[in-house]
Amino acid sequence: MTPEGRVKVGIIGSQFQADIHAESFRLMPDEAVVVAAASPTPGNAERFARKHQIPRWFTDYRQMLAEPDLELITIAAPNSFHCQMTLDAARAGKHIVCEKPLCLTLEEADLMIDTCRRQGVLLLYAEELFFTPKYVKAKRMADEGAFGKVYLVKQAEKHFGPHAPWFWDVDRSGGGVFMDMGCHGIAFCYWFLGRPKLDRVLCHMGTYVHGEKTQGEDDSLCILEFANGAKGVVENSWARRGGMEDRIEVYGEGGVTYADLHMGNALPTFSEYGYGYSVEKAPSTQGWSWPVFEELWNYGFPQEMHHFARCVRGKETPQATGEDGRLVQEALYAGYHSAALGAQVTLPFRPTGVNKPIDLWLARRTAGARPSGKAD
Ligand SMILES: NC(=O)c1ccc[n+]([C@@H]2O[C@H](COP(=O)([O-])OP(=O)(O)OC[C@H]3O[C@@H](n4cnc5c(N)ncnc54)[C@H](O)[C@@H]3O)[C@@H](O)[C@H]2O)c1
Repeated sequence: MTPEGRVKVGIIGSQFQADIHAESFRLMPDEAVVVAAASPTPGNAERFARKHQIPRWFTDYRQMLAEPDLELITIAAPNSFHCQMTLDAARAGKHIVCEKPLCLTLEEADLMIDTCRRQGVLLLYAEELFFTPKYVKAKRMADEGAFGKVYLVKQAEKHFGPHAPWFWDVDRSGGGVFMDMGCHGIAFCYWFLGRPKLDRVLCHMGTYVHGEKTQGEDDSLCILEFANGAKGVVENSWARRGGMEDRIEVYGEGGVTYADLHMGNALPTFSEYGYGYSVEKAPSTQGWSWPVFEELWNYGFPQEMHHFARCVRGKETPQATGEDGRLVQEALYAGYHSAALGAQVTLPFRPTGVNKPIDLWLARRTAGARPSGKAD
């Protein structure tokens, strides 16, 4: 019998994104309730659970998966764990929300999708830009014909670098800023344009500021060419000072729209003395700053989790799935390879035996180390 009432959720992770998941379910509580959390560092799961009034906590997420009443697991752990955690959750019969990027390799993406399909559970891809109210409004206008034929969509996301050490370790993250935030922009352009076939990827990247800290790129620029003739431009940086930036531009033969997620939803503020919090990754609240209000809502996180819970109950059809994550993964491969070659890469691009996407770029340092794949 299908369970009724609110979907019972377990969260893997206890830090940055886990907080956002817990808070998002709290903000839209009618469809789901978080009843368990798991995190390996002693004390972290308990601290997190008490903070969010979650009744059960575990240091081993596999123990949490054995709880029979849990229906939906959200994965807010480092990228290198996404695949194994998804497989374990699917085999325990739980639906899954997996954070972006889906995983490290295309083989993992296939395995995750196939396993979830065989186990009869949903694999939901946590791309909140599909739910960001301002961006949803722009897409709705585009779909209504406001801009005529859209020929260019741009998405940029930039800040001065992530908060936790594992992001900088390419063996755990899979890559630098292109992997971490380019995955948002690729998904965004694809979704905005109505999921057309992706034909070609051209990418430039470099490590300009954080070379002592990481092998990963800290700035990237990517051009996507879709089969319908439209282009996507994805700009990302971990080298950009001044806090978080997230914006889009949409150009059609009949019009244009721009959206700046933070500046447009902020209070231009000057403070001699500073105050508590302005916006994600802001370096200071003294002097000029742009504090946002309803930050999670403006990103679309509560709306995203609400939608996923409704999918579990069969009330809505998933809008962001493992297949979206796999398409992004292939584009990430193509982007890293393109940056290594200095040339466009044509899709399908599915080299096998790649350990992590950034290896396709780091391979440029090794003469002759080129995976099979087509470059124009
Ligand atoms: N959608 C977004 O905008 C967004 C923003 C930030 C992070 N993320 C994604 O969320 C995921 C987590 O990132 P974060 O910023 O929360 O990182 P974080 O370092 O703040 O937290 C990672 C959590 O994973 C836990 N963890 C590590 N190993 C584990 C294991 N073996 N079992 C269970 N838990 C384990 C850690 O204890 C920690 O609680 C990443 O995939 C990241 O890309 C998405």
